[in-house]
Amino acid sequence: MRTNYCGAINTQYLDEIITLYGWVHRRRDHGGVIFIDLRDREGLVQIVFDPDNQEIFQLAEKVRNEYVLKITGKVRKRPEGTINPTLYSGEIEVLVSIMEILNASLTPPFLMDDEHISEFVRLEHRYLDLRRPIMQSNLRLRHQATMAARVFLDQHGFLDIETPVLTKSTPEGARDYLVPSRVNTNQFFALPQSPQLFKQLLMISGFDRYYQIARCFRDEDLRADRQPEFTQIDIETSFLSADEIMALMEEMIRDLFKSAGKIDLPDPFPRLTYAEAMHKYGSDKPDLRIALELTELTDIMKSVPFKVFKEAAEKPNGRVAALLIPNGSQLTRKEIDDYTQFVSIYGAKGLAYIKINKLSDGQAGLQSPILKFLPEETIQIILERTGAKDGDLIFFGADKAKIVNEALGALRIKIGHQHGHATTDWRPAWVIDFPMFEWNEDENRWQALHHPFTSPADGHENLLLDNPGQALSKAYDMVLNGSEIGGGSIRIHRQEVQEKVFRALNISDEEAQEKFGFLLQALQYGAPPHGGIAFGLDRIVTLMTDSESIRDVIAFPKTQRAQCLLTHAPGVVDEKQLKELNIRLRKTEQPKN
Ligand code: AMO
Ligand code: AMP
Repeated sequence: MRTNYCGAINTQYLDEIITLYGWVHRRRDHGGVIFIDLRDREGLVQIVFDPDNQEIFQLAEKVRNEYVLKITGKVRKRPEGTINPTLYSGEIEVLVSIMEILNASLTPPFLMDDEHISEFVRLEHRYLDLRRPIMQSNLRLRHQATMAARVFLDQHGFLDIETPVLTKSTPEGARDYLVPSRVNTNQFFALPQSPQLFKQLLMISGFDRYYQIARCFRDEDLRADRQPEFTQIDIETSFLSADEIMALMEEMIRDLFKSAGKIDLPDPFPRLTYAEAMHKYGSDKPDLRIALELTELTDIMKSVPFKVFKEAAEKPNGRVAALLIPNGSQLTRKEIDDYTQFVSIYGAKGLAYIKINKLSDGQAGLQSPILKFLPEETIQIILERTGAKDGDLIFFGADKAKIVNEALGALRIKIGHQHGHATTDWRPAWVIDFPMFEWNEDENRWQALHHPFTSPADGHENLLLDNPGQALSKAYDMVLNGSEIGGGSIRIHRQEVQEKVFRALNISDEEAQEKFGFLLQALQYGAPPHGGIAFGLDRIVTLMTDSESIRDVIAFPKTQRAQCLLTHAPGVVDEKQLKELNIRLRKTEQPKN
C-alpha cells in the first residue's frame, strides 16, 4: 500500500518506513551508489540504492527513464552539501530496502524536464507530455479554476444543468460541426456553438439561475487563442439587470483568480464603451497594460493635399489616426520598415510617420516622408493632439476604419511590449454599449455583433429596422490583458422584438420559424426578463498560467489545422458506415504536382 506521494515527503517523515509508487525521472550512478529521482503527480523525491543490498542494487541498475516502480524504504536526512532547496523533499532521501519494477518503458522521445520540445512531438506523445511537471500544474490549476467557479455559483443559487450536444444549430458566427443522423436519413444534428438557446429556455422554464461548464464547438479559422472545441463557464439568470449581472460576475472572476491563481484583481473593474475602446485602442479587447493610445485625426484630414489621408478621411467608414510612441525617434529605418511590414498583415498599405527631433526648431525639427504633403496648421494640430515631445515618433494609419483599427491596434500592442510601454499587472475591464449589428462587407448584409438574441439598449428598439448601424445593445464583454475572456448580454424576452431583430438581419419570417420557431413560441409563454454571460475557461487558464498557447491548458487539444496528432482525428470512415448514413463522398480533385 502506498503511504505517501513522492513529492509530499519532507523532514517530518524522518526515520519512517514509507512506500511510494512513481516514475523514474532520472537515474544517476555515483561511486557505487545509485540515485533515482522518483516522480509522481506531487513532485520528485530522491531514492538511494546502497551496494550493501546487492539484490536490490542489481535491480536498480536495470531501471531506465520512465520505468514504473514501487519502493519501500527509510526516510533519512541528505548529507550536508547535497540539499536541494528547490524541492519540497530536498532535505531528505529514501534509502530503498524493497523494490518492484511494475513496468518498463521504451526510451521516451524527450525527457520530462527538457525545455525545448517541438510541439508536434509533444502532441503526438501527449500522454508523456502531460507527465511533465508544467503540464501537471497547468491542468491542476484548471481544475482549481472550475472548482472555484462551481463553489461560487453553487453558493449563489445557480443550478448545474446539462444541455444537449446533439442539437440544432445556434448561430454564434462560426460554422457548425455537423453530425449525420442514421435513423433520420439525410438529416443532421449540429454540435452546439454554445448552449445559448437552451439556457434561455431554462429561464423560461423558471429555473432562475443556471450554469454549466459546457463544451462548445466552432468550425472557424483557428488562431492562437482559439480551439475548435473549447469550454465555457456558461451562466444565465432571470430578473437581474446588466449592472447586477456584471457586479456578480466580477465577484466570481475575482474569487476565481484569487483562489485558483493567488492573483488579486482590482475592485471594481473599470468600464469603457465600445466606441471609446475602438477610438483609443483600435480594439474591443484592449490591453490596458499598454500606455499607448490612438489619436483621432479624421476630422482634420478631409482637406489636406495628401491623397492617402484625404481619401481615407472622406470615406464614410474611413479613419485617419495617429499612434504616438514616446522616445520613438530612436527607431531605426529597419525597425520602421519591419513595422510597416507588420501592419500590412492587417491590410494597411503603408505606415507614415513623423520623427520629432526638436519641436522648438519648427518644421526643421521634424523628420518625415509626408511633411511636404501636410499644411503647417495640420501638423500643428497633430503635435498638439498627440502631445508629442522631443524624441517622440508619431505613426499614422489611414484607410477604412476597420483596417486602421486592426493595424494600429496591433502595432500598439507590439511596440508597447517591445519598447517598455507595458506594465506587468492584471488589467481587467468591461466593454459595454456594443452596437447591435456590424456590416458584413463580403456578404453585403448586417450581422449580429454578438448573437441575434441580444437585447437592444433602452430606447434603441425603433432603430433596429430604421437605422440598424446606430442601434446599441445590452451586451458586455469582459477583457483581461488584451484577451476577451467572457461575453454576455441581457436577452430579448419579447417575441415581437426578437422578430424585429431577425428582420433586421434579413432573416425571413419563414426562415426564422424554421430555425428558431421553438424560441419564438417559447417567448410567448411568459418569458421572464433574463440575461447571462459565458466565460472562456481555456483562455482564463491560459492567462493565469502565463502559457504561450491555449493548447497548454487543454489535456488533448487540436492543432491549428483542427487535427488531433495523438489519435489522428479526424480520419476517414468505412464505406459501410457511410452507407448506413446514406452518404456518398464527392470526388475531390487530385492535387496536381
Ligand atoms: P462568445 O461567443 O463571446 O459568447 O463566447 C464566450 C467566450 O468563450 C471564449 N471563446 C473561445 N475560447 C476558445 N476557443 C474558441 N474558439 C472560443 N470562442 C469563444 C471567449 C469568449 O469570450 N452564448 C454567448 C455567451 C452569452 O451571451 O451568454 C457566447 O458563446 O473567451
Ligand atoms: P507614398 O506617397 O505612397 O510613398 O507614401 C508616403 C508615406 O505614407 C509612406 O511612409 C507610406 O508608408 C505612408 N502611407 C501610405 N499609405 C498609407 C496608409 N494607408 N496609411 C498610413 N500611411 C500610409
